[in-house]
Amino acid sequence: MAATAGAATIPLLTPYKMGQFNLSHRMVLPPLTRNRSYNNIPQPHAILYYSQRATNGGLLIAEATGVSDTAQGYPDTPGIWTKKQVEAWKPIVDAVHEKGGIFFCQIWHVGRVSTFGFQPNGEAPISCTSKGVTPGLDGVDWSPPRPLRTEEIPLVVNDFRLAARNAIEAGFDGVEIHGANGYLIDQFMKDQVNDRTDQYGGSLENRCRFALEIVEAVANEIGAERVGMRLSPYASYMETGDSNPEALGPYMAKALNKFKLLYLHVIEPRMIKINDKYETVHSLLQMRSAFEGTFISAGGYNRDEGNKAVAESNTDLVAFGRLFLANPDLPKRFGLNAPLNKYNRSTFYIPDPVVGYTDYPFLEVPA
Ligand SMILES: Cc1cc2nc3c(=O)[nH]c(=O)nc-3n(C[C@H](O)[C@H](O)[C@H](O)COP(=O)(O)O)c2cc1C
Repeated sequence: MAATAGAATIPLLTPYKMGQFNLSHRMVLPPLTRNRSYNNIPQPHAILYYSQRATNGGLLIAEATGVSDTAQGYPDTPGIWTKKQVEAWKPIVDAVHEKGGIFFCQIWHVGRVSTFGFQPNGEAPISCTSKGVTPGLDGVDWSPPRPLRTEEIPLVVNDFRLAARNAIEAGFDGVEIHGANGYLIDQFMKDQVNDRTDQYGGSLENRCRFALEIVEAVANEIGAERVGMRLSPYASYMETGDSNPEALGPYMAKALNKFKLLYLHVIEPRMIKINDKYETVHSLLQMRSAFEGTFISAGGYNRDEGNKAVAESNTDLVAFGRLFLANPDLPKRFGLNAPLNKYNRSTFYIPDPVVGYTDYPFLEVPA
């Protein structure tokens, strides 16, 4: 599909060079967990799902993908720590590349957002703390975590490094380190959760140490020009908030410059909760100006707001989550200013290989 055909004038559909990658437009598919990778193995139906959303020169980021057997907290999310998982990703990545897409893998550890049932031998989920997510939040009986011992932390860093190596082996163009949305890395960064007294807790610098050790290990393994990071300093998903996001966000943005990271992907402060927009006085401009690589903004964007953000240079790229989920041909629709399919929240997380996944209609039936 030629996303920009006949409609190259809107800012979202202008080309952009992200490091070595020549993007033909600015609209990104952000990671969207789909709970359809049975037993943590990516499935053949994901070939259709991702290739439906691939465009020539478009950036796609795969759904959050576990780095180890302790990384899961939801049913049937994919992994990338075994040979079998790596092999299963290959045809999916190939299909995206066949359409000219650029495909990154979001590498993920849920930390305390888990239950005994998801953990090897029914053990406690790992975190920076023993404070659990309140059981019953979002209808799940979250299990109390155990804090990682200081000497165990390098092992988890190493899991991210190996996952990144595996992602490249699977054919991905790079990885996005998931430091957002209340999962393990975010748990370490945020002072509402991190109550450690070792060098990974206390000061802002200490709380960000784990995140930056992962960044360093992954960048050394596959090259910083293939590494992005996702952050949500303003969000408090899964009871993971920070008392001073205005300090945390720019601190991380500047720290990432030292590694010459390819991109920083940040969730807008208005997305305090995962799905709803709130009024806020905060913006990402400080982080945007602090970071020297490519900046991706996400959270609650529509066509007009995305165009405005790019036109005003408040961001380089814009991610559209729910709109891309429901509109596989979203760049084409934006180019034509065509009507959009509505997303159906009730089918976001069902295990069906088709429904709510690959059955959203295209604007025209492809020939
Ligand atoms: C079904 C669904 C699954 C999601 N899964 C992930 C995920 O795996 N990793 C992640 O960082 N964010 C995830 N998110 C957040 C989205 O990437 C995005 O930030 C969010 O939907 C807000 O953007 P939007 O308003 O354009 O939808 C998910 C959101 C939805 C709706």
